[in-house]
Amino acid sequence: MNKQFDVVVIGAGPGGYIAAIRAAQLGLKVACVDAWKNDKGGPAPGGTCTNVGCIPSKALLQSSEYFEHAAKHFSEHGISLSNLSMDVQKMIHRKDAVIKQNNDGILYLFKKNKVSFFHGQASFSGKAENGFEIKVQGAAPESLLAKQVIVATGSTPRALPGTPFDEKLVLSNDGALRIEAAPAKLGVIGSGVIGLEMGSVWRRLGAEVTVLEALPVFLGAADEQIAKEAYKAFTRQGLKIELGVKVAEVKPGKHGVSIAYTNSKGEAQSMTVDRLIVSIGRVPNTQGLNSQAIGLQLDERGAVVVDSDCRTNVAGVWAVGDVVRGPMLAHKAEEEGVAVAERIAGQHGHVNFNTIPWVIYTSPEIAWVGQTEQQLKAEGRNFKVGTFPFLANGRARALGDTTGMVKMLADAQSDEILGVHIVGPMASELIAECVVAMEFRASSEDIARICHAHPSLSESTKEAALAVDKRTLNF
Ligand code: FAD
Ligand code: NAI
Repeated sequence: MNKQFDVVVIGAGPGGYIAAIRAAQLGLKVACVDAWKNDKGGPAPGGTCTNVGCIPSKALLQSSEYFEHAAKHFSEHGISLSNLSMDVQKMIHRKDAVIKQNNDGILYLFKKNKVSFFHGQASFSGKAENGFEIKVQGAAPESLLAKQVIVATGSTPRALPGTPFDEKLVLSNDGALRIEAAPAKLGVIGSGVIGLEMGSVWRRLGAEVTVLEALPVFLGAADEQIAKEAYKAFTRQGLKIELGVKVAEVKPGKHGVSIAYTNSKGEAQSMTVDRLIVSIGRVPNTQGLNSQAIGLQLDERGAVVVDSDCRTNVAGVWAVGDVVRGPMLAHKAEEEGVAVAERIAGQHGHVNFNTIPWVIYTSPEIAWVGQTEQQLKAEGRNFKVGTFPFLANGRARALGDTTGMVKMLADAQSDEILGVHIVGPMASELIAECVVAMEFRASSEDIARICHAHPSLSESTKEAALAVDKRTLNF
């Protein structure tokens, strides 16, 4: 006998669990199915984000940053430590405890919002007269009938062709978050977001880290000026980054992993490392869904094809998050989840794709919203630029962290803010003001006229806004 629901959400990552909660808040009868298992085989809702992504990486970034501060920067504040040591196992256990708090939190939220949770692999069995039949294969197999379905099955790491992840020597993000002791030599393929964040963690904990990147430019999606500043900071910290490389062969062996590649000059190179992280992007996860049972359209990458409202080609089936087009970010998945739940309930959910912030949680942090200078130039748009360095910010000096700047781009005529790009301390928090400003279509003058607390890093955003009209007060 099928259990019947208004909405069945497949996947309890940030896209799925948030969609389920919002749909339940709107009075719908909702189930959410998720396959992720914890180390005891029990449910671990939260998806990539909670289990092997955003949350655990930030836990290790925090622990490793504390260690680096204690080792290298406390003395500037007159604090001396003797016998400083690190316990990587304890850091990993702490990270695992943070994951569990989040898993438990989501199970609690499901209960609170009366979302029925099923632990297992969901697949479409077919269309029925009054909805879609979904099979759940888990400890207790179930058959569900859903009037509407939200597919939120996320993404999985992309492996190098011919080099599968073994999670011992060749690591995806999963293995990169579970190394038991800092390797002496760590290789990273791909200087994207995961490469830089995980490379930073293990460098801070003592590894010699070399990052091999195929593209000739560093962080091509970021504003060029910001990317250059970040590159300088990372290489100063000891991260070795080689751009424009072509990886030829990766061979795991008894003594680590050997990598043969050509450098940007076309010269053959080789390197042997104790561990290798491969972070060359992620692929949408539609395997095991049996999408053909309902004729769900996928693209050549396996992503579910959706319109701007997350509608698929099958009426009543929606898809959100990493499994569809657009940036693979947890907050983008959440926004889509909320909007779809609201559309199902007859409301007018909306996602503004132009104001989705990006954050890279390295030190310095990198964050941006809106367009980059190079994008505006390519469009032939007339714009003004204002920059303000943290070096001239009182709070940054007091913190002892003056790397980087805030850069604001505004339309030359209307003064509307078109993009804000930050590299520096707490960029992840500073960007929120800029997102709000852009949502309200603020001008740079609006920010320049708003009172910002002193001393605060946010004064740099105000000063960058003042700089747009060449009237900074502190630089
Ligand atoms: P996922 O989180 O991947 O969740 C999908 C869920 O669906 C999983 O639990 C999976 O088991 C389940 N599932 C799949 N198929 C089925 C099925 N057939 N039946 C049942 N369940 C199924 N983003 C940020 O915004 N900020 C960050 O700081 C950040 N850091 C990251 C760090 C790392 C190392 C990685 C890898 C990613 C990071 N991301 C970050 C990206 C973020 O994790 C993803 O964008 C986000 O998790 C996508 O959410 P989702 O709900 O679409 O999918
Ligand atoms: P990415 O897309 O950020 O970076 C991949 C990098 O690998 C690119 O620079 C690419 O040019 C390079 N590359 C691709 N193939 C290569 C090859 N064969 N040899 C050398 N270099 C190669 O992907 P990443 O780092 O794997 O992360 C996946 C996604 O996860 C990100 O795009 C992001 O959406 C999400 N994420 C977000 C975070 C955040 O918001 N802070 C943190 C971590 C991940």
